[in-house]
Amino acid sequence: MIAEPLTCQPALVSMRDLDVRTVEALIHRAEEFKHGTELELTEPVYAANLFFENSTRTHTSFEIAERRLGLSVVDFNPQASSVSKGETLYDTCLTLAAVGVRLLVIRHSQDAYYQELLHQPALPVALINAGDGSGEHPSQSLLDMMTISETFGGFAGLKVAIVGDLNHSRVARSNMEVLQKLGAQVYFSGPEAWYDNQFDQFGQYLPIDELVEQVDVMMMLRVQHERHNDDSTFDQAAYHQQYGLTLARAARMKPEAIIMHPGPINRGVELASDLVESPRSKFVEQMRNGVFIRMAMIESVLRGNRLGGLA
Ligand code: NCD
Repeated sequence: MIAEPLTCQPALVSMRDLDVRTVEALIHRAEEFKHGTELELTEPVYAANLFFENSTRTHTSFEIAERRLGLSVVDFNPQASSVSKGETLYDTCLTLAAVGVRLLVIRHSQDAYYQELLHQPALPVALINAGDGSGEHPSQSLLDMMTISETFGGFAGLKVAIVGDLNHSRVARSNMEVLQKLGAQVYFSGPEAWYDNQFDQFGQYLPIDELVEQVDVMMMLRVQHERHNDDSTFDQAAYHQQYGLTLARAARMKPEAIIMHPGPINRGVELASDLVESPRSKFVEQMRNGVFIRMAMIESVLRGNRLGGLA
């Protein structure tokens, strides 16, 4: 067993690994794909999407991104795979690499599951993290940055509030890091029990009524019930009134300010239902951008793999 992480494996697993120039280059490339740039493969390239947690947006948009790049997508269903016979994640990846898969996109409930894959002898496969437990969610984060960049033309001085279940949200974790790196001012809100003092290094906690008038972006998060030990006392209506973006609060936002949400939305909980498709909301645009940013991410890791498959 090799103890040190292998840096030679092409992977995009955490926003921590990306510098500002790389983030900007990925957004720029995603814009090109959005405006019609196409790639030509010189040989077949196989991709497999391993989703051990439920997903609608991330899974389908990775698959569409792969197909738009000309990749062949291998069907993988964890329930029907040998994982149910006790095979480890590493051995599953080893198998897929051996049969010719060159890109693995993985979502898993275990925080930093990818360490196990990067510490082993290097797998001849590129790896993208599509969400690890409460850890990170780089593709969501990059599509969020793309959407903010398209809307405001940059990040310097922009005030962005991340609101809700911060402690359990991989979207929040990835976004607070990169927003600060890009020069935005980050604010947090939501139940204090779901706030961790380590977030202080990235931004400032304020009650929602104090920040709603100040910020350019209200980024609302779903309550991560599946990551809570006991949710039996959770009251949706009370949460909405105390911490949610109600219609009354939204009416106090700055004229150009936007609402974002990674989805899935629990309407009437973190966000009033009528706001989901309101003119302020970027929810649909975020999902659209998700395909293009994932195309850029896939291209980048595949080029790192020096496959020769990309023209
Ligand atoms: C997020 C996730 O899975 O972390 N959803 C997504 O990928 N668009 C957010 C969530 O589940 O609340």
